[in-house]
Amino acid sequence: MLAGKHILLIIGGGIAAFKSLDLIRRLRERGAVVTPVLTLAGEEFVTPLSVSALAGSKLYRDLFDLGDEAEMGHIQLSRVADLVVVAPATADLMAKMAGGLANDLASTLLLATDTPVLIAPAMNVRMWQHAATLRNLATLKADGIAVVGPNEGDMACGEFGPGRMSEPLEIVAAIEARLSDGPLTGRRVLVTSGPTHEPIDPVRYIANRSSGAQGTAIARALSALGAEVVFVTGPADVPPPDGVEVVAVQTAQQMLEAVEAALPADAAVFAAAVADWRVTSASDRKLKKTKDGIPALTFTENPDILRHVSGLKKGRPALVIGFAAETDDVLENATAKRLRKSCDWIVANDVSPGTGIMGGTENAVTLISDTGAEDWPRMDKAAVAKKLAARIAEALG
Ligand code: C5P
Repeated sequence: MLAGKHILLIIGGGIAAFKSLDLIRRLRERGAVVTPVLTLAGEEFVTPLSVSALAGSKLYRDLFDLGDEAEMGHIQLSRVADLVVVAPATADLMAKMAGGLANDLASTLLLATDTPVLIAPAMNVRMWQHAATLRNLATLKADGIAVVGPNEGDMACGEFGPGRMSEPLEIVAAIEARLSDGPLTGRRVLVTSGPTHEPIDPVRYIANRSSGAQGTAIARALSALGAEVVFVTGPADVPPPDGVEVVAVQTAQQMLEAVEAALPADAAVFAAAVADWRVTSASDRKLKKTKDGIPALTFTENPDILRHVSGLKKGRPALVIGFAAETDDVLENATAKRLRKSCDWIVANDVSPGTGIMGGTENAVTLISDTGAEDWPRMDKAAVAKKLAARIAEALG
């Protein structure tokens, strides 16, 4: 499936760069065209001649090379590929990417490109675990950059831990996944997930037991089918999937704003457990037991995001899917909810305490559409997500 695909491979300055030589071979074996870019630090680890010879291509090294610029300008170079791969992605390269710096050829290409990017981080374990790198990683993921690895194991520096670059074949698999033409390639899908937190004062809030597991699995399954996924998530227990655009919010109102900003989309899946009410006037200072006594909270209804999007006259996604977490009369309530919220499908589930569904790993759902109700057997949340993603692909055609 890589035959004829064009990979722009940026090799950063880390000891793992030696594995990138093998990566070039593996990619070419599969018929990919590899255009290599070597950073100045990368040249300390592998030679320009090795890279160029293995790639069977001209090597690009210098932003200000007049010859290169005349032949193919750096902006054009950033756009020729089907995928930009950074391997090894050093802490420095990741920081530059996260900060939008463009002070050498590699960072300029990464800022100028409109092509999907996959990074294979490699660095010392302490560097990988440093708060700055973790911040940068979160930023890059939120920007929709896909990440493969790193693996855990012995490091060239003698330490042990996460930070080893993924093996060439693992990177090849990640590249294939990114380039796979799925049934949802070219489609944009919005997914909401997780609970919302509604503040009482700066330290207290009202929340619910949603873990975000089902919404996260749906976003992952849609992305695996090739969709461009915008993932709007409240404070969830599980990390967001790789390779999707993550918008993290706290409250229902913030979620509504993020959803509006994410539209238009071909389909929207509202898996978030949005709080129905917020405290009418949350205090901007911590309430004191001694001074304020027992608070009498009053509530205001939150915007219903699903109903709002379903009712849009202009820019309504072709397929709007809501969830109905119910504890009794599931089918009846969910069927009524579909009509009340004017969404196309409702995924209904029974979240009664005995079911272990809320916060658990399995789900048993009924899919309700205008053609009726369909019970799915109890299965893994990932399996529910895959089945739903396949249905969405079918419906969008
Ligand atoms: O009304 P109820 O909360 O049971 O409806 C559930 C569905 O509506 C879910 O899809 C949920 O994501 C969505 N919803 C929403 N905004 C709200 C409340 C619920 O999008 N304020």
